[in-house]
Amino acid sequence: MTSTLPLAEFPNLSLEPARMPRHVAMVMDGNGRWANQRGLARCEGHRRGKDSVRAAVEAARELGIPYLTLFAFSTENWLRPGVEVRFLMQLLQRYLTTELKRMMKRGIRVVALGELERLPAPVRRALQQTIEATAENRAMTVALALSYGGRQEIVKTARRLTEAVAAGRIRPEQIDEPAFAGALATADIPDPDLLIRTSGEIRLSNFYLFQLAYTELYFTETLWPDFRERDLLAALEAYQARQRRFGALVENVAAAASLSAAN
Ligand code: IPE
Ligand code: IPE
Ligand code: MG
Repeated sequence: MTSTLPLAEFPNLSLEPARMPRHVAMVMDGNGRWANQRGLARCEGHRRGKDSVRAAVEAARELGIPYLTLFAFSTENWLRPGVEVRFLMQLLQRYLTTELKRMMKRGIRVVALGELERLPAPVRRALQQTIEATAENRAMTVALALSYGGRQEIVKTARRLTEAVAAGRIRPEQIDEPAFAGALATADIPDPDLLIRTSGEIRLSNFYLFQLAYTELYFTETLWPDFRERDLLAALEAYQARQRRFGALVENVAAAASLSAAN
């Protein structure tokens, strides 16, 4: 794996540290097309995408972004050919093992969300080990969305809350926005401020449907295996140039922002 460039290599940066997003969510897309363009197998694109993951994670850490979600595998991605799914699972397992040392060194905590029970046992074990080993790290949280679907998460949450009502543990009127947000897998993670999707696709593909209500969306043509620090910085510059209003007028943004933060 190539090493990442220190951010000092980008002297023209005009980012304001005080206005960094708290949570950046990434849809890492375009691995297959990257490989196709080079006459390589799709899996080669996935393999090279690992370098981009390291670059994104470590740059975000250096920039002081406290939460980063990586959409690594969607519920719908199980529909891909078995050989590709198996490759992705092996890659994930290897990533979790090989990156652990670097994550510990940088104080990065790893959490995971999605239908984790569908992952192969060796992946689940590697995931569990990484989650446990990094649990006390405080510099940044990396959330891995694995076998994740936004609709599935919402439906599962609705079912759990309904069961709690049926069992008499809560009353229906207690289910409000903060309670619902607090029952999602992202209960302890603030809503994303910025969503980045690579590869030129302008869609959400069932990612964080509840959480993205007021997120700034950023789409880039860059294919995921080509994504590096400069691409993250470009997204952050675009983010800082925007004016978030949360449905209110500029004067009342602070109040509106706290209202929109369901959790
Ligand atoms: C993203 O790249 C990786 C996963 C979805 C797991 P793709 O594999 O979707 O690449 P394209 O979109 O086919 O180029
Ligand atoms: C979204 O990309 C899922 C991940 C990046 C993990 P896809 O490539 O699966 O999305 P579609 O099929 O183009 O919508
Ligand atoms: Mg894709």
